[in-house]
Amino acid sequence: MTQTTRHWWQSATVYQIYPRSFADSNGDGIGDIPGIIGKLDYLRELGIGVIWLSPICASPMRDNGYDIADYQAIAPMFGTLDDFDRLVAEAKARGIGILLDLVVNHTSDQHRWFLDARSSRESRYRDYYVWRDPAPDGGLPNDIQSTFGGPAWTLDPVTGQYWFHQFAPEQPDLNWGNPELRADIYRMMNWWLDRGIAGFRMDVINLIAKEPDRGITADGPKLHDYIQEMHRETLAGRDVMTVGESWSATPATALLYSGRDRAELSMVFQFEHVMQQWHETWGKWQPKPFDLVALKRVIGRWQTALADDGWNSLFWGNHDLPRAVSKYGDDKRYRVESARMLATVLHLLKGTPYVYQGEEIGMTNVPFSSIEQYRDIETLNMHRLHLEAGLPEADFITGANENGRDNSRTPMQWNDAAHAGFTTGTPWIEANPNYERINVAAAEADPESILAHYRRLIALRRTLPLVIDGRYTPWLEAHPEVFAYTRTLGTQSLLVIANFTARDVTIDIPAALRGDWQPLLDAAPALLRERATLAPFEVITGLADRSF
Ligand code: NOJ
Repeated sequence: MTQTTRHWWQSATVYQIYPRSFADSNGDGIGDIPGIIGKLDYLRELGIGVIWLSPICASPMRDNGYDIADYQAIAPMFGTLDDFDRLVAEAKARGIGILLDLVVNHTSDQHRWFLDARSSRESRYRDYYVWRDPAPDGGLPNDIQSTFGGPAWTLDPVTGQYWFHQFAPEQPDLNWGNPELRADIYRMMNWWLDRGIAGFRMDVINLIAKEPDRGITADGPKLHDYIQEMHRETLAGRDVMTVGESWSATPATALLYSGRDRAELSMVFQFEHVMQQWHETWGKWQPKPFDLVALKRVIGRWQTALADDGWNSLFWGNHDLPRAVSKYGDDKRYRVESARMLATVLHLLKGTPYVYQGEEIGMTNVPFSSIEQYRDIETLNMHRLHLEAGLPEADFITGANENGRDNSRTPMQWNDAAHAGFTTGTPWIEANPNYERINVAAAEADPESILAHYRRLIALRRTLPLVIDGRYTPWLEAHPEVFAYTRTLGTQSLLVIANFTARDVTIDIPAALRGDWQPLLDAAPALLRERATLAPFEVITGLADRSF
């Protein structure tokens, strides 16, 4: 993408809020919209341009709002529509846009469409969902499994058919083949867009065009027709940003979504760098040892493939993933060093960076020891299934501690008061006990904190066009401990060399990178000779009049 066609969201940094866990204003133990409004000045200071709000619509909260019962009502536990309008206005006054989470692959089973649909085969909403007769032997229509474990089909005893659900049974899949359903969704999207939101994050958008009879769940043949129609009907002519979640995206399909001639989405969330670390069969519950060379290969492939067309999203964490510093850094001895290093490596890549709440103060995974402490539907289901399959309880807890979704859902750590200052009541999930040390108040008092570093990085993106537009060049690709790259725009380049280990690492500096580098961020000027030794999790950065 050239500078002349740059979009506002290419120079913005996005901050993800998981409303349930961010800030509770009324003491019920659950975060809410007035709580978020109270923290907008904090977010303005951080320098972000967009907030992605995880779902806030009316929901029975089986999956914490990713099961929507009414797309045009706010969940009472989060506030009212007036609160939401106030949030949009107050955020706008601080130069921040609000991105809503569009969950339209499925609804809640409490949505009025589904309640009506399951009341009779003749319901006018029956075809809004995916129903199939039992197999001739009375069993499941086929063997597709749901993401949360168990079959993707549940029998409705009243009407005698199975409904299809790629997640929990309480999250019935919508039938995007039905044009009336699609029109209803577009009407709803326009209703929110007209309220002044900045765009949408689109939940599992790659799954909407499923064709279960052919065993197709992701990337169905009609997927891009639907997204293009959605674009025509809702996004066209509006200067908004959209990011589609796609666990199946490859660099090639990312161009279908975000290529400049495609009229679909601004970008996708891609997960190759996440899944590259999962077990082939047991997935995230049996993580593989960290492999930096593989991680660099994946990131580099995406950087290169979307260099001139399409656009990357950049993230280490979100509400479904473990804490970045625990996953990729060292959350014990080198928490501050490794969190700062990870932020530098990510934010200086090409793309739009996303900060997940608490990442900017280096929040860590939570050391739960008993399944009773977990709240996440996926973790609880998988626990049951793993135990039924004969796996030891302790192994499951180890996997959940490492990769379970509740790691990122514990309360935001504001200060060292009870429950991290998140609530005056009893939080819906325990705070991480390390809040006494790791919290916003402590970070704000320390000029060398992770938070201070995030502020500098985010500000740099606004002032240095090279960060947004520069061409990516990888260095030391086969090195197992060091991540190195340059970005070049015209005759200027920036350099990043990061030690991903808790040891001193000595490297041979490639000849082209030797010489003087001017300071970037808070670093000292660097003179790179033939060899350099990086301290644990140290990152060298620099700026120079050079071109690669
Ligand atoms: C992806 C969301 O990020 C996750 O939290 C949710 O459980 C599933 N989609 C289902 O909506």
